[in-house]
Amino acid sequence: MSGGRFEGQVAIITGGGSGIGRATSIGFAQGGGRVVICELDADRAAETLSLIGKGPHEATSVIGDLTTAETADALVAAAGAMGDIDVLVNCAGFGGGRAAYDSFDPDLWARIFAVNVDGPFQLIGRVIRQMAERGKGAIVNVSSAAGLVGEPGIYGYSASKAAIVNLTRALALHYASRGVRVNCVCPGVTDTNFLSNVRAAPDADELFARYAEMMPIGRLAQPSEVAEAILFLASDAASFCVGSVLAVDGGWTAQ
Ligand SMILES: NC(=O)c1ccc[n+]([C@@H]2O[C@H](COP(=O)([O-])OP(=O)(O)OC[C@H]3O[C@@H](n4cnc5c(N)ncnc54)[C@H](O)[C@@H]3O)[C@@H](O)[C@H]2O)c1
Repeated sequence: MSGGRFEGQVAIITGGGSGIGRATSIGFAQGGGRVVICELDADRAAETLSLIGKGPHEATSVIGDLTTAETADALVAAAGAMGDIDVLVNCAGFGGGRAAYDSFDPDLWARIFAVNVDGPFQLIGRVIRQMAERGKGAIVNVSSAAGLVGEPGIYGYSASKAAIVNLTRALALHYASRGVRVNCVCPGVTDTNFLSNVRAAPDADELFARYAEMMPIGRLAQPSEVAEAILFLASDAASFCVGSVLAVDGGWTAQ
């Protein structure tokens, strides 16, 4: 497509092999942008690239764990080879499952924070200075409705997603006058691989029905519905959005 909303732009999108990150990567590419996705899972990344259907100079992947310096460096290098980095979407996330507070495994807690907070922090650190020097850039962090309201049983996840909300705000304030917009999307329950554990549970139907009930809209989100909000915040159409925390949750946190 020519003349799209991301024509000539370059994005790094983590978690681009599945769910919301995949829908965002496809949307960015359809808008004329070039994209580097970061994925742990090589097959998922390859499938997203084949759905995008463009050559490697327009869409490529870095397979690795976004929490490592090597992967972060490789991402910035791959995107830099395409041009100046205009957009960073920190989409990959780790849930860690449910556990009682008094039996919460500290290593699991650390891993949740590594993927959901430290990794984005590290990647932002690698791109934001050059964005500020150019006076142009958009960073979109993917939090969760569970980062806005408390949910028992997912303590580490909820705390990490709240952390990324306020990291968004603090960075947004510092960079607002330097041409870099930092914003955040908080999805409600979305039908992706993120729910694979729930889907495999013996009472999966009941759990899905409960999720649907939790949201006033009465159903789960589709990944593309969340991706649209991310793409809006990444685009020039959101030129006055700075430090926005956009709930895309079917009304869950409006209650
Ligand atoms: N699905 C939901 O119900 C829901 C609700 C609220 C928020 N979210 C958030 O939305 C974001 C996207 O979730 P999704 O539902 O699309 O999940 P998903 O599982 O479909 O996709 C996430 C992808 O990220 C990749 N990934 C995970 N950790 C990684 C790492 N360390 N390095 C590189 N890649 C990694 C996974 O391999 C996976 O392909 C996450 O941050 C999640 O916390 C999801």
